[in-house]
Formats: sequence, structure tokens, C-alpha cells
Amino acid sequence: MPGFTAADVPDLSGRTYVVTGANTGLGFEATRVLAARGAQVVLVCRSEDKAREAMGRIIAETPGAKLDFVELDLADLDAVKRTADVLSQREDLDVLVNNAGVMIPPLSHTAQGFELQFGVNHLGTFALTSHLLPKLAQGKNPRVIVTSSIAHRSGQAVWGDPKAEESYSRVQRYSDSKLANALFFVELARRLEASGSPVISVGCHPGVASTELGRHMGFASVAMKLVGMVLNTAEQGAVPTLQAATDPGAANGDYYGPRGLREMSGPSGTAFLTRLARDPGAAQWLWQRSVELTGVDPNLPPV
Ligand SMILES: NC(=O)c1ccc[n+]([C@@H]2O[C@H](COP(=O)([O-])OP(=O)(O)OC[C@H]3O[C@@H](n4cnc5c(N)ncnc54)[C@H](OP(=O)(O)O)[C@@H]3O)[C@@H](O)[C@H]2O)c1
Repeated sequence: MPGFTAADVPDLSGRTYVVTGANTGLGFEATRVLAARGAQVVLVCRSEDKAREAMGRIIAETPGAKLDFVELDLADLDAVKRTADVLSQREDLDVLVNNAGVMIPPLSHTAQGFELQFGVNHLGTFALTSHLLPKLAQGKNPRVIVTSSIAHRSGQAVWGDPKAEESYSRVQRYSDSKLANALFFVELARRLEASGSPVISVGCHPGVASTELGRHMGFASVAMKLVGMVLNTAEQGAVPTLQAATDPGAANGDYYGPRGLREMSGPSGTAFLTRLARDPGAAQWLWQRSVELTGVDPNLPPV
């Protein structure tokens, strides 16, 4: 089945990428390939130790890799602002890869009291992206990448209870957060285009890949080993991220994922978004809610 593979990532000399959650899993694998193709990559992670260890592994494979570290905790909107301020002071910044995420933790909250999956996967990503849009607009062929999931298909628009004060289903909340990621990148694409911005917004999902994402599942290590054998290693799972971030043919609003059975594995190409994920009404409602909850407004009017 033809499709985009890591071998299709072009030469990236002279381009600067920011990758959130770059120390492990898909973010690490994407960073490894971006660096090998000559990009400057800023690893934006919550643990400096883990980031430096990851940088060491990349440099062992690609001596001379151009890597930097900036601290980021998506579970604290004040910290997100500080990270964005540091990144905005850089000379150049071309592509923001929103990859970091958390899946099915026990009920827990961000510094501002939001349910963790909604807070980290969506609100933190929304805030970081919004802060960085003016800087990205000065970049070369600038892009924002947002990582969603097959799980977005079971997402329901239930963000009326963003602190999970009424109920908490960890699996449903993960799906909801990934639906929010999908609604966000599509709505961002619409608004960027209407505003005449040079930035494009592209979505992706990895299918199912063996990473540390299952750390809150009791049987995680066994399940993830199996996933790596049957479906995708982290290296394979990162390919749609790489396509979204580097394919010269990628257009504003595109969504990439594996093309195999049920989009769980296989070469990367155009992926399926549910009708709800493409619904402008749901997206505008979520956008407005995100502005209210984060206090960050990207100043892109609705279309
Ligand atoms: N693996 C899959 O099958 C799969 C399927 C669909 C979608 N996805 C999506 O792919 C993305 C990457 O996941 P992965 O599978 O690579 O998982 P992973 O191996 O667990 O990596 C997640 C990354 O996110 C970081 N992170 C978590 N909470 C954070 C926070 N509060 N602030 C900053 N960084 C934070 C982690 O940092 P630490 O290492 O410090 O915890 C780690 O670097 C996620 O958005 C996930 O929803 C994955």
C-alpha cells in the first residue's frame, strides 16, 4: 500500500521544529528523524533529565544533531505561558508539533483545577499554540501540528464539566480530549485561512503504537509489547506525525494517519475524521470555551 514513510521526510536543513513530549514515545521518534534530516529541534518536555537523556540518544545516532531543551508543563497554564515566552525569544521557529499527552490517569487535575486529560491534551495545547501563533507567523512555511487519535471517534462534546466535578470516566475523558484536539486543529485551519495567516494547521494520529502512553493501565508493559509486535512500534507510530510536520504536499486542515485496517497501522496517508470532529458549530463552541477557560485568545475571528 503506497503511502508516506519516514524515508519520505525531506531535507530539513534551516528549519526549526518545536516538539512537545519529545523525550519518549512518538515525540522522541519524530524528533530523532527530524534531527537526522538536519532540522534544529527544540525538545519541549516537563523533565529536563529525561529530555537530556533523549538528546544523548539522538546525538549518539546523529552526531552534530541540532537540539535544544525548553521546559514545559502543560498541566499549568502559567508554566505554558513561560514556555511560550522563552520560545518566542528564539530567532526562528517554523513548526510546532503538539504531541505531548496523557491517557486514562486516575482522576487528577491541572494547576488551574481542570480534569487532567482535557487540561493537558487540549487546554494546554490550545494555550501553547495560541501564544506561539504570532511567532510562527514569522517562520518559514510555518505549521502547527495537533495529535489526535482513533479514540476521537467515541468522543462526545461534554466540556460543560471541565473539572470533572459531576462525573469521571477516564476512558471517555480521553476520547473527549482527542475529539477536542481534532475540533481544534480543524477550526484553527479555518480561522488561519480566513485571516490570511501564512501558518497552516495539520492534524495526525498514530493508529495504535507501543509507547509509554499506557502507563496508567495495570497491564501496560505486556499490552504495549504486544502492540509493538502486532501493530506499530513507536518508530512506526511517529510516521503520520512526520508526514503532518514535513510533507511538502500537506495542506491546511489535512489529517494524517495509518492507512491499514481500521487505521491502526500501515503507511501514512489521509485519515478519517468523524462528522462531529468536522462540525463547525461544535468547534466554535469549544474554541470560545477554551478562550474563557485558559484566558488566552488567539484573536482569530470565527469564519
Ligand atoms: N501511542 C498510541 O497508540 C497513541 C494513539 C493515539 C494517540 N496518541 C497520542 O500521541 C501523543 C504521544 O503519545 P505517546 O504514545 O508517545 O505517549 P508517551 O510515550 O506516554 O509520551 C507522552 C509524552 O507527553 C509528555 N507529557 C505528559 N504530560 C505532560 C505535561 N503535563 N506536560 C508536558 N508534557 C507532558 C510525557 O512526558 P513524561 O515522559 O515526562 O511523562 C511524554 O513526553 C499523545 O497526544 C497521545 O494521545 C498515542
